[in-house]
Amino acid sequence: MDDVAQRMRLAARMAHIEPFEVMEIQTLAREVEAAGHDVIHLEIGEPDFRTPAPVVEAAKRALDAQPMFYTSALGLAALREAISRFYAQRYGVAVPASRIAVTAGSSAALLLAFGVLLDPGDEVLLADPGYPCNRHFVRSFGAVPRAVSVGPDSRYQLTPGLAREHWGERTRMAMVATPANPTGTMVTAQDIAGLAQLAREKRGHLLVDEIYHGLTYGLDAPTGAAAGEDVLVVNSFSKYFQMTGWRLGWIVLPPGLVRAVETLAQNLFISPSTPAQHAALACFEPETLAIVEARRAELDARRRFLVPALEGLGFGVPVVPEGAFYVYADVSRVTQDSFAFARRVLTEAHVAITPGKDFGRNEPERHVRIAYTQPVARLEEAVERMARFLGRR
Ligand SMILES: Cc1ncc(COP(=O)(O)O)c(C=O)c1O
Repeated sequence: MDDVAQRMRLAARMAHIEPFEVMEIQTLAREVEAAGHDVIHLEIGEPDFRTPAPVVEAAKRALDAQPMFYTSALGLAALREAISRFYAQRYGVAVPASRIAVTAGSSAALLLAFGVLLDPGDEVLLADPGYPCNRHFVRSFGAVPRAVSVGPDSRYQLTPGLAREHWGERTRMAMVATPANPTGTMVTAQDIAGLAQLAREKRGHLLVDEIYHGLTYGLDAPTGAAAGEDVLVVNSFSKYFQMTGWRLGWIVLPPGLVRAVETLAQNLFISPSTPAQHAALACFEPETLAIVEARRAELDARRRFLVPALEGLGFGVPVVPEGAFYVYADVSRVTQDSFAFARRVLTEAHVAITPGKDFGRNEPERHVRIAYTQPVARLEEAVERMARFLGRR
């Protein structure tokens, strides 16, 4: 066995692919639980809600009634049509079904977008802090993630001004997530338009990750699809529709990219999951939308409890999150090392949170991400435990 392990020679690209720190925290949390402690999980990027019942019912009906063969690589025609109608209803934007590809989560959508557009050495502008997998997706194609440090002054987002400043000879793309992980902040319609215009001028591309659309509190998030049909928009059934484990998402493509994405998807995936696609057809029904909207209100109530409670602990929240289900807190008043802090909070206070390290190189030691993916009563308990840990009770 040792001999086999020794003979494994990994591809050079693996030197740039780092583990997902939140997974390591989860492993440690399981050990703490195995030792008999009640851990409050605020580290994971998925809420405690189950998939809405009408979606589960639709899956069961389909499993009984249909053969689960592969679908087209771009997805079921009925689902692409339903997503197209959703853009018309929700945003008032015409996105023909022919520009929509259904994918295995937005993860596969990102992989396909980068796969059809990036050559080795090409650069992609990304906000730091940002969703960690993006830089690894880019690396998987031999391309180079160019992290742009962002802070409270730009609401932790890549602005048209910052993108222009960092756009270089090899830059081929800029990407933003709105609302973003880990900060929950959004990009305005004006900035999306400005970024799209810059990409056009530079003969590059803008990709907008809208996976947290629907989970915004107060204002609705504008879609990149309104900024021109050359903008790539990624979305998912994971978060708003609470289907994380079903692995289903989509991408809105410029017309000229559809065939390339179809070809790559045929080869990489053959098709997205057939049962998941039948289930997702129920997402756009009024009864499902009523359920997910009620859950949006519940997440907002959690957010409104958590942000001031964390500030009361001495954590800084310089920009109040407007969406997703994360608070990116500045813990520099209570620790100089968010990584060690997160581990101690887990092992001593039994609250699992994610250290900033996952989200880039821009002052990770002074930040943690706290996901309000538990009911308010559990959040209250978590805050109480952290207060005791910090000697504030
Ligand atoms: C910003 C962002 N994009 C993409 C993803 C990938 O999600 P999925 O593949 O489940 O759609 C996540 C998951 O947490 C995310 O936070």
